[in-house]
This record gives sequence, structure tokens and C-alpha cells, in this order.
Amino acid sequence: MKAYRAAILRFATDRQPSHAAFFEEDGLLVVGPNACGVQVVQAVGSYNQLRRSFPDLEVIHWPGRIIAPGFVDLHSHYPQTNIIGSPSEGLLPWLEHFTFPEEERFASPDYCAQTATFFIAELLRHGVTTALTFSTSHRVSVDVLFAEAKKNSLRLITGLCLMDRHAPADLLNQGSGNGKRDATEQSLLDSQELIERWHGVDRLGYAITPRFAPSCTDAQLCGAGELAARFEKVWIQSHVAENKAEVAWARALFPASASYLATYADFGLLRQRAIYAHCIHFDDADRELMRTTGAAAAVSPTSNLFLGSGFFDYASADRVGFQYGLASDVGGGTSFSPFHTMLAAYYVAREGQTKAGLSLSPQHLWWQHTVGAARALGLEGVVGNLQPGCEADFVVLNPQATPLFARKTSVCASLDELLFSMIVLGDDRLVERTVISQAI
Ligand code: GUN
Ligand code: ZN
Repeated sequence: MKAYRAAILRFATDRQPSHAAFFEEDGLLVVGPNACGVQVVQAVGSYNQLRRSFPDLEVIHWPGRIIAPGFVDLHSHYPQTNIIGSPSEGLLPWLEHFTFPEEERFASPDYCAQTATFFIAELLRHGVTTALTFSTSHRVSVDVLFAEAKKNSLRLITGLCLMDRHAPADLLNQGSGNGKRDATEQSLLDSQELIERWHGVDRLGYAITPRFAPSCTDAQLCGAGELAARFEKVWIQSHVAENKAEVAWARALFPASASYLATYADFGLLRQRAIYAHCIHFDDADRELMRTTGAAAAVSPTSNLFLGSGFFDYASADRVGFQYGLASDVGGGTSFSPFHTMLAAYYVAREGQTKAGLSLSPQHLWWQHTVGAARALGLEGVVGNLQPGCEADFVVLNPQATPLFARKTSVCASLDELLFSMIVLGDDRLVERTVISQAI
């Protein structure tokens, strides 16, 4: 067992609203193995009260620091690390001019390996300890990322990007080579094989990954839906309703469906553990479909602002009551930093405020990148919080890390002021260390 003393931030499990934060000025976090040998939170609370229960335990003391749950990033693309900050008129030209040419490079195992190593190091440097991310349509890109995540004991979910049309030839899924199986059939067999190889190994999980409906034929979406029905605990990830031109294209390709989102439902791809990036251009029927199926939105505000896609409608999402959490969407998104993402979400909600009187509180923003994102993944109580039983993934924040952080945080008079100051000013300089739960 190990014990850490510092200020501790965590979220309520038995209070309303569920994004209410607890802040222990002088806290103790006790970590030790559970029955399966995984390091979890054994106890958490005030140092003075808890210390008596663990008199013999050596305590690591981090004065002036804040221990907080590791961040959960609900959507990103590891192969887009190099194209962060590539400006374009909008999503579709951005895919064509920057994204697809870069993703073609992932046919090379070496290129996959050096990008995967960098990407995971960057997640950890920014305090992200659980990530759902896209690979490319190359099998090797998936194997290499899983192997790197395993080496780092990271909770990571990814999958083979399914795209059997509307992309450059080198990026389309490939057939078996001997003519026995076409690209569609091979991509589904590859997905199944990758599920069997990686899903549930250590902290890894598989996501069935149709890129978005326009890049998949009916046959591929149908096969993806069949896989999703067969492997219930596996995740699904895709994109929906990000950009108006994309929505029009999807509607033209699948005219029989009631909406772009409904296309996914029609192929059996909306269910719990299905995470859809963006979800901007929705009507209430779409929101109801999200709610009734248990699918969740990966809200990606830096990406939406950068690509000019639009604004996630928080007020309508809450009115109808579907699940969402925050995501970097690197490389459409402009930063690995959860602080930058939370700040962008605040700006986006401010845009909605003129319509609905809504503004996001700092506790709610922080919750969306921790417990809320974990809940969207079906992993609440496992990651994203520091309650007893949660896996011991956490960050140690140093509010003194720069002259401005130190000056500003020293005058904060409430928890909300402290959290807001970190959201507004924070970045990787605030994250002094990231601690990952290890199996023993
Ligand atoms: N829609 C389909 N592919 C992509 C992608 O790579 N990034 C974003 N932001 N949207 C997409
Ligand atoms: Zn994306």
C-alpha cells in the first residue's frame, strides 16, 4: 500500500448534482491492490482523520500540490498528431488535404511506432490517463498503439478504422491479396481478430471504428453492427453531425434513414458504449435517439472552433438528457491539454448562453473530462474519480508552477475560483506528475 498527502479533488457519488466536487485541503489518498492485483483507491479523506487508520503506512507528502483524478479523453486520433493546427475552410477539405495524406504514412510500422510512443507520452504529460482514440485503416497502426499502451499500463481503447469507400486508394481497407476476400470482408475479419487479440488484455479495450457513415458502404456498416451485437462489451466510436456539408453528404448517401444519426441506429451501431464525436447539428429526434439507445457524445470544442464546425448545444443535450463528455479530438482539436479543452467548452457554452441562459460551472467542466467521460464509456467507478475502488490513476497539480498561476491561485477565495483559475490559465506546466495504476 502507498499513501499520498496533498490537497485532493474528487467527485460525489451520492450527491446531486453528480458533478459536485469535494475538495480536501489536507487530504490522504491510500492506494493498494484489489483482489485482482490492480492498484485501486483503498481510502480517501482528510489527513487528520484517515492517518489514524493507517498508522504504519509511510506517507509521501506533496505540500502545496493538488491530487486530482486522471483525465479521460473521449475522442482523438493518434495518427493526426503531426497535423494539429492545419487550417482549412472546413471538415471535408481538411480531411482531403491534410488528414488522409498523413494517415497514409501509417502503412509503415516504424512511423506507427514513433508516433504511438510520442502520442502516449504526450497524453501522460498532460494528465490524460484514459483515452479512446482512432488508429488508421492499417492493421499495424492498431497493433503498435496497443503494444505501446500496454507497455505504459495505460487504459486505452482503439480500433481499426473502417473505410471502404470515398478515400484515397492507399487508405481504403485492403482485401486479402489473394483475391479470396474483398476489402469490406477483410476489414471486418481483421476487426474481429483484433478484438480477440487485444480487448480486455490488461487495461486495453477495443472499439469498432467506422470512420463515419460516408466512408463506409452499407455492407461494411452492416458487418460492424453485427460485430457490435456479438461483442457487447466492446466499444463503438465514430463521427456524426459535425459539419453541415458532411451532414448533407451523409443524408444523400443514406436517404432511407430518418437522419444522419439514425443511419447508425439502422445498422445497429447506437448502443451503450457507443461514442460519437461532435453531435452538433442535431434535432430533438436525434437527441432522443442518443438518450434511448444510451450512446454518448464526445464533445470536442477546440476542434469545433478550429474547423468552424459549430457549437455543441449543451442546453438541448441536458433538456433531453443524453450522455456526453469532453474530448481533445487531436488533430482537428488544437491541444492535448484537458485545460484547453475545458476552457473551449466554457466558450462554447457561453455562445449557447444567449439562447438558453446556460453557462458551465468549473465543477461541471472538470466533471465532463473525468467522471462524465468515464460514465459515457461505461467505466464510472473504474476510472475518472478518486473514490474507493477506482483505479489509482491521478495527476499531481502544482498551482505554483508559474508566477501567474501562483499569484492568481493565492487569491482564490472558493473552490470554484480555484478550479476556474486552473481551467483558464492551465496547461501542461500545471501537471507536475501523472501516476498510473499498475497491476502488481
Ligand atoms: N470525420 C471523419 N473523419 C474525421 C476526422 O478524422 N476528424 C474529424 N474531426 N472529423 C472526421
Ligand atoms: Zn475525430
